[in-house]
Amino acid sequence: MSEDHSSIAVEKLNAEEAAQELERLAKEIARHDEAYHANDAPEISDAAYDALRRRNLGIEQRFPDLIREDSPSKRVGYVALDKFEKVTHAIPMLSLENAFNDEDVYDFAKRMRKFLNLPESEKMPLTAEPKIDGLSLSLRYEQGKLVTAATRGDGATGENVTENAKTISDIPTVLAGDDIPDVVEIRGEVYMSHAAFQDLNRRMELEGKPTYVNPRNTAAGSLRQLDSAITATRPLNFFAYAWGEMSAMPAITQMGMVEWMKACGFRINPLMQSFEKIEELLKHYRKIEKDRPELEYDIDGVVYKVDDLGLQARLGLKSRVPRWAIAHKFPAEKAWTILRDIEIQVGRTGALTPVARLEPVTVGGVVVTNATLHNEDYVKGVGSKGEILRDGKDLRIGDHVMLQRAGDVIPQILDVDLEKRPKGVEPFEFPTSCPKCGSHAVRDVNEKTGKTDSVKRCTGGLICPAQAVEQLKHFVSRGALDIDGLGDKQVEAFYEAGRIADAADIFTLRERDARSLKKLKDMEGWGATSAAKLFDAIDAVREADLYRYIFGLGIRHVGEQTAKDLVKTYGDVETFQTAMLNLSDRQVYDDLLSVDGIGTTVAEALKEFFSEPRNLDVWNRLLAQVNPKPAEEVATDSPVAGKTVVFTGSLEQMTRDEAKAMAERLGAKVSGSVSKKTDLVVAGPGAGSKLKKAEELGVETTDEDGWFVLIGRE
Ligand code: IVH
Repeated sequence: MSEDHSSIAVEKLNAEEAAQELERLAKEIARHDEAYHANDAPEISDAAYDALRRRNLGIEQRFPDLIREDSPSKRVGYVALDKFEKVTHAIPMLSLENAFNDEDVYDFAKRMRKFLNLPESEKMPLTAEPKIDGLSLSLRYEQGKLVTAATRGDGATGENVTENAKTISDIPTVLAGDDIPDVVEIRGEVYMSHAAFQDLNRRMELEGKPTYVNPRNTAAGSLRQLDSAITATRPLNFFAYAWGEMSAMPAITQMGMVEWMKACGFRINPLMQSFEKIEELLKHYRKIEKDRPELEYDIDGVVYKVDDLGLQARLGLKSRVPRWAIAHKFPAEKAWTILRDIEIQVGRTGALTPVARLEPVTVGGVVVTNATLHNEDYVKGVGSKGEILRDGKDLRIGDHVMLQRAGDVIPQILDVDLEKRPKGVEPFEFPTSCPKCGSHAVRDVNEKTGKTDSVKRCTGGLICPAQAVEQLKHFVSRGALDIDGLGDKQVEAFYEAGRIADAADIFTLRERDARSLKKLKDMEGWGATSAAKLFDAIDAVREADLYRYIFGLGIRHVGEQTAKDLVKTYGDVETFQTAMLNLSDRQVYDDLLSVDGIGTTVAEALKEFFSEPRNLDVWNRLLAQVNPKPAEEVATDSPVAGKTVVFTGSLEQMTRDEAKAMAERLGAKVSGSVSKKTDLVVAGPGAGSKLKKAEELGVETTDEDGWFVLIGRE
């Protein structure tokens, strides 16, 4: 057996140690590839896996002569297979906004009261319950019988794991009680108890197999087993706490719904309670926090929800989170470790981001090996607003650093132990050129504020391979084109092999492959079936929703929601393109600015993107290959669907936010300014210039009462 050199930094290895490390890494990475792709049971986090690959690459760069025949860097890796059927959730599965301290909780209550125009004198009870650290599952019952169990997936579409869910004894296959609505969707959290987790790991040890890292990942892996017989050997539990589609509502409060679930045969969390005062809510939070070590399952905070379902409906959603709930997270856990190296990564927009390579350490139940160091100033001890970090201590390779990690939050370096700083280490020198393409790297100065940007960027644009690859990864990622079988690893390999250089090339892959002598099916890690499947998956997205294409372009400041807003406004690709190519026209630019949620930052970014010939070239070649689906009309049966509405003046029966959310639910577009394109202006008392402009332009106007009559709610 060779010795374990895994804790020695890459640049400190001698040739013999390096050879042994490369051998160990080849084996370990191959094992994780198999665990992940073939057995669907990853044993380490993606970050830890990436760290192994990077270490392998780092050693190979230092010792090119030692590169092995079976090196992981020579393999494309497995192609992810679509193993479970996809399920589209009738109602999306949401995530939650986070609160990190008491003040955030008070703000949350204040925001809701403002939205609802609810004075302090009126009660607004909130429920509080533990936030279970598991994975959410949606169970659909028709005529009282379990028909589908689906994982959350991206919130809109999950995986069908019905057979596996049936092996969980907390999940009834038939609902108990009378008067069960025809359609019932129960949502809750699947988790593995501490006892079951320890039991399983004892069994694994006895069998000489690697043990699992934490109960959450194990529960996820167990539920996603292809063979439900294996799931059945992994004792999982389920707490019910929410619902999706319901053909009838058996209760009018959150608490009432959960109690009804109990009567149907579900387990509900015994620590759930309803409170009227925020102080009581916070007291309950502290009680749960204190009891946490004794609980039989992992929790990472307390979830507060508005109890009254009528108020919940009025509050509605903002993009992917409800306005009526929040997760109050427990404070982060901390640990000391050693900063082994600082690596510079180049992102999609050319940002040079320093990344800390750390001596692996367990914080909050997860092994952490990397942490982002954000930017040049952060390494020096200065925050993005000029604030002093870590008492101004800079970070140097070899330092002992204190790490903090809270739930899904990125680990942060909070402190440096100067007494343990090795003698003679120099301050870290941030590069002045891009480590990937050698182009000059600069920190822009904001024209308006005169401030220097905290981010240093590579000026190479798409000639920089790092930027090009990151852009491609973004294009095929989940919120964008989400092409099955084309993940980060495949994109990297295709780029390296010269098969694709930009997004448009993806859509000519099949055609070029047919003519090429070097067929994809002959590439390592591929076969005839997987290659054919990939080409089909690419064809399948040619008609994907337009917003996915717009988001996929990777325009700065244009996230998924902004892409959706753009599509809502422009409808189809031709209209969108015409507008984007004419943004130097004042009227077109102003129209863009009147889209709710779009300000000058986004507008400028779009203008810049669509005036750059290289971008236009990719866009045109892309459009020659694909046929993006135009916007779907929301709520087409409502009288204001597709109309552009402006609210002005003071509203008396609803707040401005509430009016806007209501109009959007009914499929209307809400704009902040009146133009020829406005269909309706709803004016309350005190309306001024907007009402006047509407009258001048001959736009229909009404008051608040008229609005309620129009939408059929008098
Ligand atoms: S309510 C509409 N309640 O937390 C609200 N979520 O960060 C839907 N979670 O995806 C969620 N315990 O997987 C709710 N008691 C609880 C929860 C809980 C755990 C998870 C859930 C959700 C995630 C959001």
